[in-house]
Amino acid sequence: MLKTVVCVSGGGTNLQALIDGIGQGTIRNVQIVRVISNNRNARALERAGEAGIDAVCVSPRDYGDREQFNEALLHRVEEAGPDLVVLAGFLVVIPPQLIRRYENRIINIHPSLIPSFCGKGYYGLKVHEAALARGVRVTGATVHFVDEGTDTGPILMQKAVAVRDGDTPETLQRRVMEEAEWVILPQCLDLIAAGRVTVADGKAHIAE
Ligand code: GAR
Repeated sequence: MLKTVVCVSGGGTNLQALIDGIGQGTIRNVQIVRVISNNRNARALERAGEAGIDAVCVSPRDYGDREQFNEALLHRVEEAGPDLVVLAGFLVVIPPQLIRRYENRIINIHPSLIPSFCGKGYYGLKVHEAALARGVRVTGATVHFVDEGTDTGPILMQKAVAVRDGDTPETLQRRVMEEAEWVILPQCLDLIAAGRVTVADGKAHIAE
């Protein structure tokens, strides 16, 4: 069993895709041992509760400074003893100590085809606003390993999604989620749990 901690901030639809995939057997040998949210009001926390998963909130507001928050977050992750940490819409700068402690064991889902529309300031709806402003015909989603940069780690999986005339940031976001994010994030977990994923020379590799 791949013990997994999922970190969330908002709606939790990617978390739901993981819960559903585990329930339906399309994600095999994965157990979500804890959900961590930085936002007490996140719908994602309710989703975890509904699925009977241990859920905790670690909010920067509850700590005197960033370093105390970073230590608390690391502690809450370590307590759960995960093999893998999944950032599923976790809109927090990941503490360097967490990245070092879980090198090549943290993955993130990003709602564009990296290296387009990624890095500092590109998150959530802003990514889709930028894609529409640039007029791209194809966008998508990326699952990548997390290193100390922002959206710079080894790419594990990507899926393209067509942009349609008349798309708004909201319609595009929804289609990227449905056609790409909720598809590739579960696939990545299944592959990692099957031991088929390695990282070498800064690149992710998937064994046949
Ligand atoms: C998702 O679209 C995810 O790709 C994005 O936030 C959304 C969270 O939705 N993540 C980022 O932008 C990270 N840079 P969800 O809470 O419903 O899964």
